[in-house]
Amino acid sequence: MKIAVTFSTLSGNTALVANDLVDYLNNNGHKAELFDVINTNPDQLKEHELVFFGSSTYGDGDLNPITELFFSTADQQNHNCNNTHFAFFSLGDSSYPHFATSGKISSEKIEPMQGNILEPVLQIDGYPNQATYQKSRQWADSILTQLK
Ligand SMILES: Cc1cc2nc3c(=O)[nH]c(=O)nc-3n(C[C@H](O)[C@H](O)[C@H](O)COP(=O)(O)O)c2cc1C
Repeated sequence: MKIAVTFSTLSGNTALVANDLVDYLNNNGHKAELFDVINTNPDQLKEHELVFFGSSTYGDGDLNPITELFFSTADQQNHNCNNTHFAFFSLGDSSYPHFATSGKISSEKIEPMQGNILEPVLQIDGYPNQATYQKSRQWADSILTQLK
């Protein structure tokens, strides 16, 4: 199965999680490719059966502006991703009233584009550490199990 791990980041935290995830997947018999959303056209993800889609949360529980731009490009292209499964990981900080909501918002953007949404959204609190990586690896395994 072709897997994409994407990240959209302002200060690097989402990239840390994505990098760890792609290494973990490739070291465990999968074929995963890393995409920085800032340089990615939505169509590039179409050839992947599964996308782990990572974004951080800014403003008042909003998508970060890079993810916003990605989805507005996808809208303009009438993007359809009905051959792709999506699982969302979402960075944030629980001191904010709307904690790590970017994953849920991203999922709501992908739904009308007919992407196949896998649950749950993974929410990550604060600066990533070893415990974060353990949690995101386990989450990725549980997502992959759903596709067996
Ligand atoms: C100005 C600002 C606004 C933020 N707003 C939120 C928010 O509404 N909800 C949340 O959960 N985290 C919020 N955060 C925290 C970031 O999502 C968090 O630091 C995340 O790890 C950043 O990831 P990134 O480096 O990949 O962009 C905010 C951070 C900043 C600097």
